Amino acid sequence: MGVLADFRRRRDRGGTEAFVAPFPFHSRFARSRLPAAFEVTSLANVSGLKGKNIVLGVTGGIAAYKAGELCRLLVKAGAVVRVVMTDAATRFITPLTMQTLSASHVARDLFDADEEARIGHIRLGDEADLIIVAPATADAIARFAAGTAGDLLAAVVLASRSPVLLAPAMNVNMWQNPLTQQNLGRLLGLSRFKTVGPDAGDLACGWVGEGRLIDPTEIVAAAERLVAPGDLAGRRIVVTAGPTFEPIDDVRFLGNRSSGKMGFAMAQAAARRGASVILIAGPVALGTPPGGGILRQDVQTAAEMRVALIAAAARADVVVMAAAVADFKPASRAEGKLSRRSVAGVVAHAGTRARATTMSLALVANPDLLAEISRGRRGGRPWLVGFAAEVTADAQELVKRAIRKLSEKDCDVIIANDVGTAGTGFGGDENAVTLVFPGGASEVLPRAPKIVLADAIWDRLAGRIPNRARSGSGRRVDGAVSGRRAAAVRAPGPRVAQTRGRRA
Ligand code: CTP
Repeated sequence: MGVLADFRRRRDRGGTEAFVAPFPFHSRFARSRLPAAFEVTSLANVSGLKGKNIVLGVTGGIAAYKAGELCRLLVKAGAVVRVVMTDAATRFITPLTMQTLSASHVARDLFDADEEARIGHIRLGDEADLIIVAPATADAIARFAAGTAGDLLAAVVLASRSPVLLAPAMNVNMWQNPLTQQNLGRLLGLSRFKTVGPDAGDLACGWVGEGRLIDPTEIVAAAERLVAPGDLAGRRIVVTAGPTFEPIDDVRFLGNRSSGKMGFAMAQAAARRGASVILIAGPVALGTPPGGGILRQDVQTAAEMRVALIAAAARADVVVMAAAVADFKPASRAEGKLSRRSVAGVVAHAGTRARATTMSLALVANPDLLAEISRGRRGGRPWLVGFAAEVTADAQELVKRAIRKLSEKDCDVIIANDVGTAGTGFGGDENAVTLVFPGGASEVLPRAPKIVLADAIWDRLAGRIPNRARSGSGRRVDGAVSGRRAAAVRAPGPRVAQTRGRRA
């Protein structure tokens, strides 16, 4: 639960865009220069929600208007969305709006023969990979908890074995009412039901407090986690990301152009797959990825990153060093602001003022954090993922350098990328990487949005992480029930109970 305490809710649009963005394959030219042993892989799976059947249940609260935006985001992520609206919901948002956004007929009436003929409520529930109810009113939650089937949505929920993601939205007193909390507790006692939100803030009813529908991007992130492979469940993963800034004086620093996007994508994808992630971020302009499961720790310098990393790595199963740690820092930090007049150098005289025209800065090496963690590990734990930031377009040279770093730093895989190519590497939203494993096996993952690449990387790494490094008994169970912390969706239960029996 601790890792969820620092939940921040700014979104990383890059991740959302990644669901639909195409990823051009390597050009024939680039491929022709790859060594014969190289495997160039097509990344087929762009988004976890792509192709998933989602029933979006909309119930009657003022937040129902946000269901339109949620529907749009789900469709954009590639999901097949079937909307089920309660009568009360249709008073807040029209079925036509939802039909237009979902590009599908909106189901409303349990007893409408025509609707039942199109897709019966049992089939709707059967075929759903996930049911999202947003907003979920106190009344809807009560109906689900009571196991009633008097309206179409309640019947679909009751008749289905699919996971149900509830995004509650209501007046703060309704939310805090023990009856609502008991109903919710009853549902959460069944592994099928999860919640995301509500958020706290100004409510439409004039009250301020918990009860606001959480941002639709958070609902999508929670949904992604529910349908994600779950192959990192129970893993404790530490990811470092971004640059480090090494102070020269109180206002200047030595830094680099790393944006942190690749590390953040690795953290987001790992959390989505069930890991508890500690994200140690250098100075970056990125919000913590949505969806929960990430504890973020901000640092500035390599020394600060080292302290945070050593503490976190002690309990980690995996450490991913995506940070571009500065190799050198100024030998000393000047107090205040270094003045041109106070630095030693060639001095030019302009009138009566003496001004330095050159200046020397003494640098000292920062410790190699990855190598240090590697030296300190026992029994191969934590499993180490290094990155290699290289400036070379030559694929063979890239692998050669990666192999050297792999052995120098004694890690379990190096993810090498050419940070000199425009559009990929530092700062860009896309990247292309080569995975290099001990023994020399390598695989090229072609240019793709960083979040897509991160998932593709975990696809390849998850099965290699030794089982003895597995901690705990399985999936993380988040403890928070309400408020901001509840934005971290409860981890999905294993899908073993999802087998659908044939109807007689
Ligand atoms: N790294 C580290 N500590 C440092 C420098 C780098 O832990 N002081 C880690 C990076 O996070 C990355 C890996 O080492 O996972 C390789 O970093 P990179 O910058 O590519 O290589 P360097 O080790 O700095 O070597 P060089 O500058 O010669 O390429």
